[in-house]
Amino acid sequence: MQIHVYENAQQVGQAAAMLFAAQVIRKPDSVLGLATGSSPIGCYQQLISWHQDGALDFSQCVSYNLDEYVGLPEEHECSYHAFMQEQLFNGINMKETHVPNGNAADLQAECLRYDAAIQAAGGIDMQLLGIGRNGHIGFNEPSDHFVYGTQIVELTESTIQANRRFFESENDVPRKAISLGIGGIMNAKEVVLIAMGADKAQAIHDTVYGDVNPQVQASILRTHPHVTMLLDKAAASLL
Ligand code: F6R
Repeated sequence: MQIHVYENAQQVGQAAAMLFAAQVIRKPDSVLGLATGSSPIGCYQQLISWHQDGALDFSQCVSYNLDEYVGLPEEHECSYHAFMQEQLFNGINMKETHVPNGNAADLQAECLRYDAAIQAAGGIDMQLLGIGRNGHIGFNEPSDHFVYGTQIVELTESTIQANRRFFESENDVPRKAISLGIGGIMNAKEVVLIAMGADKAQAIHDTVYGDVNPQVQASILRTHPHVTMLLDKAAASLL
């Protein structure tokens, strides 16, 4: 695991964008694993800017997002479908984009379909991850085990509180999500984890120094051969 610490969040976003840009230049038909939340926004803005300047072409790239809320219409402004359109897809020329369908009539079938689609696409070349305050990656919440495949998860109170800022009231925050499993994340050839802010410092500490432990789901990344962590000083403050 390589760890790079930057002065501020903006630099973390730029560094992440550099890795993704290099990936797309090296392999124009890359399969990119993408994340939502506040952490990737700076990275996405930089990718859009390079694309609009003509330096970066996504026309052969395919993307798969990590997760989506269950039961939130795709057109809802807080859905991850809507987030990705607004923060990235509308500004670039990705060949195909995929986000799990949290409104599928058969959610278990959707989980299987999503994993099979990623596999059929050749697997994820580079996966972007944020991290929850409780160490979650995707929406794989603290647990006594790691789940391999895409799954339906009950969000923890800590995640509901963290995501509440995007919704009008706490009651509006969905309680369930569909998330790529730990196997799906670990199968990515390369992982780029970004974290900014002091409220991520404990999760980063436990990921880097603690045991590999499903109570801190990100700790499994220690066993992945190609992980780069990009942190601002605040997120790295307990290292
Ligand atoms: C988002 C995701 C989550 C977030 C994490 C951090 O697709 O899977 O694991 O990366 O909750 O969220 P932010 O970046 O909003 O702090």
